[in-house]
Amino acid sequence: MAINSLAGSFSESIIGIVGLGHLGHSLAVPLIKNGLRKDRLLISHKGSEDTRRRAVELGLGSCLTDTASLMASADIMIIATRPQDVLSLPSSALKPGSLVISCMAGLPLDLLKTIFRGDVMRMMCSGPDTILGGRGIATTFPADPRAEAVLHMMGLRVFDSSFEEELDSFTVGICIPAILLNICADERDVRDAVGGMMERYPVYKKLWGWIREISPACSGLGSDDRRASLENVSTKGGITQAMMDALLEGDSFSLAIQRGMHRGREITDTIRKDLAVASKRAV
Ligand SMILES: NC(=O)c1ccc[n+]([C@@H]2O[C@H](COP(=O)([O-])OP(=O)(O)OC[C@H]3O[C@@H](n4cnc5c(N)ncnc54)[C@H](OP(=O)(O)O)[C@@H]3O)[C@@H](O)[C@H]2O)c1
Repeated sequence: MAINSLAGSFSESIIGIVGLGHLGHSLAVPLIKNGLRKDRLLISHKGSEDTRRRAVELGLGSCLTDTASLMASADIMIIATRPQDVLSLPSSALKPGSLVISCMAGLPLDLLKTIFRGDVMRMMCSGPDTILGGRGIATTFPADPRAEAVLHMMGLRVFDSSFEEELDSFTVGICIPAILLNICADERDVRDAVGGMMERYPVYKKLWGWIREISPACSGLGSDDRRASLENVSTKGGITQAMMDALLEGDSFSLAIQRGMHRGREITDTIRKDLAVASKRAV
């Protein structure tokens, strides 16, 4: 579908983006560039002055609002905060009938449904540099035509995930190009590791094609740009960081991938415990 008709397909909907960090800004910018009217986009963040300034510099100042107002108004909202911040979101303010698209790595649907209580789905996409460079990819679980239209309007190619763990495996895979730019990995080790993932997760066939497609384009980057690319794809305390730590400690690429998958589960366990404590307090 052409981008103009996509803009038309949700021209009456309000899109909200919660969080304007590395990922949030790389999703907001193409939406506006591809024709979403600014009065249809709401953006909130935690309150950092740097982030507010950045929003203004990007021409998104008029979209800024507080998170509770965003949640009460948006028809489709994209959660682009760190998973560790999910419990600070005013989820009870959600507009009835709205769709919540979580980009938070690791957080499973059952936990998200407990927190948001509405129509919730997960989305995972490649890092900001790839999105802003027009080479971004994404996957969703479960699939939803409204989300797919929004992702296409962001210029993202959407790959299918047929089960939730496949989306988690994708989360690990999208970190690989930026990691390879910054670490000297044995080619065979990488291929074996990815081959192992391909056997379990069909989405890796397309993901591997994408990795090979973008790697030559990135190989000409200077060392500062390589580091920046890694920083942009690394959420503090997240999956990329866990994979890099493993590789720097001398683990194989396969083990680094497993460490990335494990980190997602660790984050979830912590949030489940925090949620249980918060629910007990509320009783
Ligand atoms: N980076 C990537 O390549 C990538 C790719 C796919 C998925 N993800 C996922 O996307 C999420 C964000 O990652 P990131 O790297 O963009 O993180 P980040 O750069 O740390 O940005 C987090 C953003 O969340 C905002 N925030 C925190 N608490 C909030 C609240 N209560 N209400 C509204 N906004 C709030 C922060 O606001 P302030 O700026 O005011 O502090 C900040 O703008 C993570 O869950 C990550 O797993 C990231």
